[in-house]
Amino acid sequence: MADSAAGPVDLVILGGGSGGYAAALRAAELDLSVVLIEKDKLGGTCLHRGCIPTKALLHSAEIVDNIKESESFGIRSTFDGIDMTKVNSYKDSVIAGLFKGLTSLIKSRGIEVVEGFGRLASPTSVAVGDRIISGRHVLLATGSYSKSLPGLDIDHNKVITSDDALTLDHVPASAVVLGAGAIGCEFASVWRSYGAEVTIVEALPHLVPLEDESSSKLLERAFRKRGIAQHLGARFAGVKTTDDGVTVSLESGTTIEAELLLVAVGRGPVSAGLGYEEIGIATDRGYVLVDRFLRTNVPTVSALGDLRPGLQLAHVGFAEGIFVAEQLAGLNPVPVDYDNVPRVTYSHPEVASVGLTTAAARERFGDIRTVTYNLAGNGKSQILKTAGAVTLIAVPDGPVVGVHMVGDRVGELITEAQLITNWEAFPAEVAQLIHPHPTLSEALGEAHLALAGKPLHVHG
Ligand code: NAI
Repeated sequence: MADSAAGPVDLVILGGGSGGYAAALRAAELDLSVVLIEKDKLGGTCLHRGCIPTKALLHSAEIVDNIKESESFGIRSTFDGIDMTKVNSYKDSVIAGLFKGLTSLIKSRGIEVVEGFGRLASPTSVAVGDRIISGRHVLLATGSYSKSLPGLDIDHNKVITSDDALTLDHVPASAVVLGAGAIGCEFASVWRSYGAEVTIVEALPHLVPLEDESSSKLLERAFRKRGIAQHLGARFAGVKTTDDGVTVSLESGTTIEAELLLVAVGRGPVSAGLGYEEIGIATDRGYVLVDRFLRTNVPTVSALGDLRPGLQLAHVGFAEGIFVAEQLAGLNPVPVDYDNVPRVTYSHPEVASVGLTTAAARERFGDIRTVTYNLAGNGKSQILKTAGAVTLIAVPDGPVVGVHMVGDRVGELITEAQLITNWEAFPAEVAQLIHPHPTLSEALGEAHLALAGKPLHVHG
């Protein structure tokens, strides 16, 4: 038993999402005793309401695009429509399979899972109902929720969040998407493929504003070609629900009518009412503050994932979970290098990046070198009829510090790019590596050939 009467376990984890369960798995592997507390389902946002379901929808959207565009590949086909009930059961079956696998994995490692709402009760314990679970160390991994704006009420019907968007039983005829981060752009992409009229409203001057400006511009062009309307640098003023849907107004005076409004303005930390502040855990706007070792100001408490300020990505949660477990086991692991985390927006086309943007690299290094390789020169991209580019950023006579890509399937290329930036490879070292022909990965090879001063399939 893990109760205080039975003595503390090594690690008590509050929250069984990507970060929490990764920490549990690694800690158990290292022979630490672990209790994992989850109020809902193991797997958290990523598995049930985030990465996995959205990627299933994006895959179904890709199939729609393939059918609609098949004539241009010489294939006759007829598009008969979308059965959202079946799309949802396909999506749910993917989730169910992964959930079953995860549940048995957790069980097989001897991790005790406590189902219930946990609350930090002291620097070394969590209360779940009447039960107090004590640990040598506590890890806060309670994740995030879909935020809204002040005065913007989510009715879960016409004004919705991504949680609601994942369970729609029909394709909306039209939608306004507020916020052009990953969530906004991915749903805009899915709905457009499904045939909806989509309008994106973004306060900053570009789509995916955290990406390199070159990538944002390529995505904007691709989305424009797909008929996705964009109001960039546009401030949202308000929304009125009507019998037919919503009327969204912008501060410029523009109004947009649609069937629904998706609010995708970011995700906030789940930290209120969980005892954090009572125990003296330092927070900033609800985010739990941590050092690079993911330690809070309370020595026996760590925090990770969407709950702390910074990148909110499942794969970062995995890495942080492994880190916390190894640190607790005394392995002296290397802290996560947040600059070199691969990032992918899985829209059509995809946007993928690792390392610094041009602006950030210029700020850090002053002088930089950049090369852009257009996918027009890449055979496989032409076969797939995708457009986009690979942009590299390097320090003069130094390593590659940023890789930015736009195009279908480039998300799969970012893994090679992350080896390049994380191992601080020089352009000439990568140029020496042979990329198989014809693959998309050649675009990465060609870009490095160009950066090393020996371009191959490059005009001019
Ligand atoms: P986000 O913070 O990335 O994007 C929200 C966007 O809304 C920003 O561009 C912001 O400028 C805009 N915005 C905020 N207030 C606005 C206003 N009043 N009017 C117009 N625009 C406004 O958040 P998002 O897309 O909701 O995603 C949440 C988190 O989940 C992010 O950290 C994201 O990276 C992560 N995520 C990652 C995915 C991936 O890796 N493929 C997929 C989905 C989410």
